[in-house]
Amino acid sequence: MSSPPQSFQGSSPAAALARRRSQFTYRNLSQMASYNTSCPLRVVAHVDLDCFYAQAEMVRLGVAEDQPLAVQQWQGLIAVNYPARAFGIGRMCTATEAKKLCPSLIAQHVATWREGDDTWAYRPDAADSIATDKVSLDPYRLESRRILAVIKEHLPAHLQKVEKAGIDEVFLDLSAHVHAVLLERFPELAGPPPDGDPSAQLPIPPISALDWQADALVDLDDEHGEFDDPDWDDVAILVGSEIVRNIRAAIRDKLRYTCAGGIARNKLLSKLGSAHKKPNQQTVIRNRAVRHFLSGFKFTKFRNLGGKLGEQVSQTFNTESVQDLLAVSAEQLKLKLGDDTGVWVYNTMRGIDTSEVNPRTQIKSMLSAKSFRPSISTVEQATRWLRIFVADIFARLVEEGVLENKRRPKTINLHYRHGSQTRSRQSVIPQGRSLDEETLYGLARTLMNQIIQEGQVWPCSNLSLSVGGFEDAISGNMGIDSFLLKGDEAQARALAPRARLEDEVSGPSHPAEKRRRVDDGGIQRFFTKRETPPSLGSSDAVAKDNGGETLGSRGPDAESGTTADLNGSSVPVPDEGSATQANDQETGAGVHLCAQCGARMESPDALQSHQDWHFAKELQEREERGTLVFGNQPSASAASPQPGGRKPGPAASKRPGRPKKTERGQQKLSFG
Ligand code: CTP
Ligand code: CA
Ligand code: CA
Repeated sequence: MSSPPQSFQGSSPAAALARRRSQFTYRNLSQMASYNTSCPLRVVAHVDLDCFYAQAEMVRLGVAEDQPLAVQQWQGLIAVNYPARAFGIGRMCTATEAKKLCPSLIAQHVATWREGDDTWAYRPDAADSIATDKVSLDPYRLESRRILAVIKEHLPAHLQKVEKAGIDEVFLDLSAHVHAVLLERFPELAGPPPDGDPSAQLPIPPISALDWQADALVDLDDEHGEFDDPDWDDVAILVGSEIVRNIRAAIRDKLRYTCAGGIARNKLLSKLGSAHKKPNQQTVIRNRAVRHFLSGFKFTKFRNLGGKLGEQVSQTFNTESVQDLLAVSAEQLKLKLGDDTGVWVYNTMRGIDTSEVNPRTQIKSMLSAKSFRPSISTVEQATRWLRIFVADIFARLVEEGVLENKRRPKTINLHYRHGSQTRSRQSVIPQGRSLDEETLYGLARTLMNQIIQEGQVWPCSNLSLSVGGFEDAISGNMGIDSFLLKGDEAQARALAPRARLEDEVSGPSHPAEKRRRVDDGGIQRFFTKRETPPSLGSSDAVAKDNGGETLGSRGPDAESGTTADLNGSSVPVPDEGSATQANDQETGAGVHLCAQCGARMESPDALQSHQDWHFAKELQEREERGTLVFGNQPSASAASPQPGGRKPGPAASKRPGRPKKTERGQQKLSFG
């Protein structure tokens, strides 16, 4: 921080005379220190790992950087490194096609849980074992945490705001950090405003040119030229860019991962920035370049406009282009989309996004799931999968410190899909004695029996088990979030979610149990609620027991409902029960398009499997983000995407238990 400002060059006296004051005020400057989201000097970064799962395998296997490698799941590929992409290999290739394109390709299968085994492992025969295996994303989750730890280590402890936005990406609000650097480098900013007036304009920066080093710079808008003197927003973003460059270097040096970065004034722009140049590059979008940068985009590539909302907007206005939508007035947008959404869309097209970078790194729930192709139709089969789910979840609970009683979940939830119907049952996990795997399994069995007793449940096409409502042992009955809430919010939290919970939990349950349920949505619920335009409905519609499959069409800023999609943009997350909803478009040529990512599938079945994969990933990402799932539960998951498949095989006699031998990355990792 104390290094001299080498990136800046002195301004000529003539230029300084020409414009004596900055367009920004002392108030704007101090807003940086308090992370004010409307501050025009705000600096936000998005960091996204290059071909993440593929890099994780490269690091684990110690392969050369130029070795083509892909991560295989059954016969498909879920991540492809850049050397392999050069051969034309992509996620939509099968392993066989990819090998044809590049015979030297390493196609590493993901780790799997297997019936009868007691830990996930990398298995040579995994690709042929879709019936008995379930994908484990634990290795990537653990690497993700190590990366997060490095990022946090490289930011000053008291000046960091880090949001884990997916398994391989974070948002950083660097404003307060940059503010501190500015005051140190430019002492003229540290003094009080003239006459104590915070609306006084700042002096102009004592520099005329900025050294952007290797950053990709987005071209400027028409009315700005590269020779216009920089103002404080440019300087701030440059400092942000230095910070990101250092973080990326640290991740590379310590863990051998490369990543892309985007630096801009908000989340919307920084995310578009990180996707702009890949791999291993960073892109800066200065405020004066925003309009030009955005005008070339389809708005459906924007964060939160990749899904249903984007579709609604493009249908309403018959265009996907930002340029076209810029011509639509705020009034018209409000008229067609409702006030809140209309305003939100209006601002978004102009690069305005005041959503918070929301630090949340604690896991709020965990989920383990599997879709069955073909469906399963006996209690025995379902029970065997429950064993695996429980083993999967319990291993992760151990890592969360459940054995040491550091944290433990309060509720367990089973979701079950039969045809178009989703059923779910939830119960409270008894407190007071240490939680073990058998207890969890017993609870899961009870929930399953409740569902089965209702009849008409076979065949079953998807099962998922989750635990949630994590509590810190120290805080007793209050989740840690309770302590973050103040006054009205805390009160609202105490009242509102309970009512929703009763609405949403379907089917009969023990009355005593119902009374004891405690909400655990935490502070995010309020962010979500506040930011969700009412016109687009509630943030988490839940599939009801009556078979109604409600799509959780989330509003623009319902961040808990967004996740990265294939294109690196964001999409509203479909509700659990709607993973297989008609999300596809059949084209004339018998090609089935995935509406979420545009992938072409040749049969409805292939499309279905592909969509399950999206679904699984979304669940998984929601866990990474510690957000809500199933309406009343904070989310989580490792799920098992599976294109096509066979019937689950014979029962394994030995039940899975806690992992005994560890793979690399299975050991417990702590991070702040
Ligand atoms: N992933 C997935 N399913 C998707 C999208 C992504 O399983 N629909 C996994 C990928 O395997 C990937 C990780 O999640 O490694 C992060 O996804 P993303 O950032 O979108 O892609 P990357 O593979 O990291 O590639 P890029 O370099 O383009 O970021
Ligand atoms: Ca990535
Ligand atoms: Ca990503």
